[in-house]
Amino acid sequence: MTDKTQNAMWGGRFADGPDAIMEAINASISFDQRLYAQDIAGSRAHAAMLAAQGIISDKDAEAIREGLLTVLSEIETGNFAFSTALEDIHMNVEARLKEIIGEPAGRLHTARSRNDQVATDFRLWVRDRCDEAVGKLSALCMALVGQAEAGADWVMPGFTHLQTAQPVTWGHHMLAYVEMFSRDIGRFTDARKRMNECPLGAAALAGTSFPIDRHATAAALGFDRPAANSLDAVSDRDFALEFLAAASICAMHLSRFAEELVIWSSAQFRFVALSDRFSTGSSIMPQKKNPDAAELIRAKVGRIMGANVGLMMVMKGLPLTYSKDMQEDKEQVFDAADNLMLALAAMDGMVRDMSANRTNLEAAASSGFSTATDLADWLVRALGLPFRDAHHVTGSLVAMAEKKGCDLPELSLAEMQSAHPGITDEVYSVLGVHNSVASRQSFGGTAPDQVRARIVEWKSRLA
Ligand code: ARG
Repeated sequence: MTDKTQNAMWGGRFADGPDAIMEAINASISFDQRLYAQDIAGSRAHAAMLAAQGIISDKDAEAIREGLLTVLSEIETGNFAFSTALEDIHMNVEARLKEIIGEPAGRLHTARSRNDQVATDFRLWVRDRCDEAVGKLSALCMALVGQAEAGADWVMPGFTHLQTAQPVTWGHHMLAYVEMFSRDIGRFTDARKRMNECPLGAAALAGTSFPIDRHATAAALGFDRPAANSLDAVSDRDFALEFLAAASICAMHLSRFAEELVIWSSAQFRFVALSDRFSTGSSIMPQKKNPDAAELIRAKVGRIMGANVGLMMVMKGLPLTYSKDMQEDKEQVFDAADNLMLALAAMDGMVRDMSANRTNLEAAASSGFSTATDLADWLVRALGLPFRDAHHVTGSLVAMAEKKGCDLPELSLAEMQSAHPGITDEVYSVLGVHNSVASRQSFGGTAPDQVRARIVEWKSRLA
């Protein structure tokens, strides 16, 4: 295959070889070499099936099998010379197979096309990344459950508008992310289920006149069944889009948590200390310890969502079936997957290493009149006030405390009664952040008992 004037794979009708620029725009080997293991697995399943169906001889199938194993080990040991002239991974592997085993290599492509081949390879690759994402998300969830368990009853401010709203527990906040990441696990699992149909045997687009057994190749490659429509099988890339959509949502969740870690680790908050292992220093300011990993995780959603939009734009408007546009599917998915896996691993490491400062969390929770809602609720419960009136009375007490520069529990009973004469000293039992969180016993609420019950459930679900 060194003859420049003709491509050995498809050059029969060509008198001239490709221009260098044509070769540069056409070749995908620089990136699709990542599909080598999937490509060889697909070829092995195809060759075994061809022999079982009597389409090629057992002898040829055996030679192909052996030869493909040699190619695999050459690639894995770095002893394979990838060639741009051979365009892509499919032709690189087949051309090398021919050098190793000779004539039988030419029989491998019977009843097959690069169109069903690439669709199969890519599905196998994306399927593996779904499994990898699920594994990494599960590990991250376990790390978060560990944090939740350590601080199930630690009190911290709960925020709306990034303003202190009501006290919540550290454990509850950690478990909020476990909920999000476990839905991400669900999305990758669903996408995997839907993509697990085998395109191989759809051939170029119409199926084949050879008596192939698509159920056998599908089973050999771990697919649930062969894809039922050959046109769809070679032209669908929605499996990759589903992966990118799930990855984008997951990256968005990571980004929100990363943002919280950036805020929480700042000198103004000091809610958490990140470990040295997951921080960086400044080259000019010796005192600095920067949350760079969190910041980079926060940014990753940009390129991952970008890949999602990018592939959507590649696919929209493509007539059935295959068009070379679809070669542009891979780099974006590779980049998105690489960065998602890295972000998940970095978040997992940060969460395992970080230590929350219980004292600072509690001090912050106690500021900002965070138990005002508890006071209003008490006025409703104990005095039978309508909630709107209770809200108003509480508001006047907040104004009074603000003026005095103290917190609600520090107001005297007489001061309380100046806002509403019915108030008794029982009111002090609901003020204070520990009372507040302990009272939030509604299902899914922040009370430590609720948090501990959820931790037990998560531990058995994630085990
Ligand atoms: N390298 C191509 C891709 O990634 C393989 C399929 C080529 N098929 C074709 N008919 N030219 O899409």
